[in-house]
Amino acid sequence: MCPRGPWLPAPHITPIEEPPVTVAMSSSSSSSSSSSSATAAAAAERSALTQRSIPFMTLATDTTPPAPAPDAASRFAVAGRVAILTGGTGAIAAAVARALLQHGLGALMLLDVRVDAAEARAGVDALRRDFPGARVAARAADVTDEADVAAAVAETAALFGSVDALVCLAGVVGCAHALDTPVAQWRRVMDAVARQMVRQNAEAEAEADLDENRDGDGDGDGHPRSRPRPRPRQARPRGGRIVLTASISAHRVNYPQPQAAYNASKAAVVALKSCLAAEWAHHGILVNSVSPGYVDTVLNAGDGLAEARQSWAARNPSGRMGTPDEVAGVVVMLLSRAGSYVNGADIIVDGGGAVF
Ligand SMILES: NC(=O)c1ccc[n+]([C@@H]2O[C@H](COP(=O)([O-])OP(=O)(O)OC[C@H]3O[C@@H](n4cnc5c(N)ncnc54)[C@H](O)[C@@H]3O)[C@@H](O)[C@H]2O)c1
Repeated sequence: MCPRGPWLPAPHITPIEEPPVTVAMSSSSSSSSSSSSATAAAAAERSALTQRSIPFMTLATDTTPPAPAPDAASRFAVAGRVAILTGGTGAIAAAVARALLQHGLGALMLLDVRVDAAEARAGVDALRRDFPGARVAARAADVTDEADVAAAVAETAALFGSVDALVCLAGVVGCAHALDTPVAQWRRVMDAVARQMVRQNAEAEAEADLDENRDGDGDGDGHPRSRPRPRPRQARPRGGRIVLTASISAHRVNYPQPQAAYNASKAAVVALKSCLAAEWAHHGILVNSVSPGYVDTVLNAGDGLAEARQSWAARNPSGRMGTPDEVAGVVVMLLSRAGSYVNGADIIVDGGGAVF
């Protein structure tokens, strides 16, 4: 037990007055029989551990490096590519979308829960106006909804003929003391940030595994499928790029605001990035993440955050917060020829804040 000085607030813990109930103390016969069957099931599961065989990863065998970039522009070009951005009408996504289109992106699908908001519509209209040669679409999609994600990815492939890149930017924040964080809030943040990335990436991996026939379903019959289904593994992969958005919060504890759920969810994103980078390189899919520091968006705005904002800037060697555009260039690099040998990396973009 840690000694607590008088300067520390009393912990928000209700003292345990009742002795803990254990399985052995259960008096009802039905609960005793259900607990004994649960015990038997757990025992069977444990014994099955030694009976199983485990899947092995496949590593890439086509190890031919790409030809050197012929010029400066082509090194960072994403010409003709198709990208999905989740959280696509958010602040950082808006800058990433614009940067990718500047570098020649052919088609862009923005997925977000709030594509119909006036501000979101205006952002999409501005992209269409400024990049008339590109195809820009937006679709309402909740990335915590597995079926919605599957449908959105399939629709994108059908609309544009392929999906070459996925940038996962959807996210929600929540600042609360760990002791005051209800499990429901923990789950909401984890679901919105970490679990959704698993779903989107699985769908994107399936799409990236398309054959060159490019009819949107990989079977070459010229008809896009209406519902996604498992891709035959013998289909010829043509590769792709995935960028997950982690955060500086995955790497160190933020100060002054407590936000354990958000930080844990972003740490999960970094771990997921490494796992997928290992598993999917043989499909030609590179998976990386970007970890922004404090970026000046709605997530960090409002008078109530003035003191915190001052603290974030003061603790940063650069003396300020970042802008969405300062994150966008890294995403362009990761999706371009320049990123062809970057896999499993997390790139911190924080003005140097993480050095402290
Ligand atoms: N702003 C920062 O300081 C900062 C720092 C590190 C990481 N990040 C991360 O960058 C990403 C973008 O943040 P931002 O600052 O642009 O904030 P933002 O709120 O402008 O963008 C997030 C977008 O995600 C969307 N979204 C939320 N839940 C969704 C869901 N379930 N399905 C689909 N869309 C959903 C929101 O509608 C919003 O448009 C987030 O993942 C955030 O955690 C931001």
